[in-house]
Amino acid sequence: MTNPSRRALIAGNWKMNNTVRECVALALAVSAQGRPGPRTDVVLAPMFTALLAVSEALKGTGVAVAAQDVHWEEAGAFTGEVSAAMLEDAGCTYCLVGHSERRHGLGETDQVVYRKLQALLRHGLTPIACVGETLAEREGGITYQVLGRQLDALLEGASEAVFGGVVLAYEPVWAIGTGRTASPRDAQTAHAFLRDRVRHRLADAADRVRILYGGSAKADNAAELLAQPDVDGLLVGGASLDAASFARIIQAAG
Ligand code: PGA
Repeated sequence: MTNPSRRALIAGNWKMNNTVRECVALALAVSAQGRPGPRTDVVLAPMFTALLAVSEALKGTGVAVAAQDVHWEEAGAFTGEVSAAMLEDAGCTYCLVGHSERRHGLGETDQVVYRKLQALLRHGLTPIACVGETLAEREGGITYQVLGRQLDALLEGASEAVFGGVVLAYEPVWAIGTGRTASPRDAQTAHAFLRDRVRHRLADAADRVRILYGGSAKADNAAELLAQPDVDGLLVGGASLDAASFARIIQAAG
């Protein structure tokens, strides 16, 4: 398993799928079937409209709820947006920021992702901040330049105390929803790069920050990815929509 000094985290990103009722049923099935070990946390990220219902259904189960996005302002004239305080009110304790489908599909910049991260930290929500290179960037040999730039933006003004509680997710864009997974070795190399880069700025936080791998993670490859020393968990898209397969991934974390 992963480094014993950090708790494992298995996160399900349901993206824009399911009705509210289907989300509640899936959440209850995951909590019934996926029995996490004592050092593993589980979090589910439904769409905004299901957050409250899923949080209420999961009360007392130990499974946490994440939102998939947040706005950086507290309240006001921001049509269509949801603030960190509203996520907290709906029962969330985690929230994704900087997912590639937002960076690349919706044009979110490093600066926008940073502001969202700060809004979550102000409210005591745990950010799951995603970074990752596209296929063109990997083939162009600039993977580490891209990862470094995305991470440095998140580290702006960061303190040891606060950044240690942040979760990072390495999600190579070419592996998301494609069935192509980074090899355990490539994932470990990227995770070690990210941790070293955090260490450069924040020596103590580096050993506490949890780094998840995401990109076609599934029951069949979970164990070998989780066996890498710097892979602290998984951010799972497609395979999290099926309770039985997600339960197997939770079990792979030990
Ligand atoms: P995937 O998605 O597991 O379907 O590749 C992962 C993610 O986008 O978080």
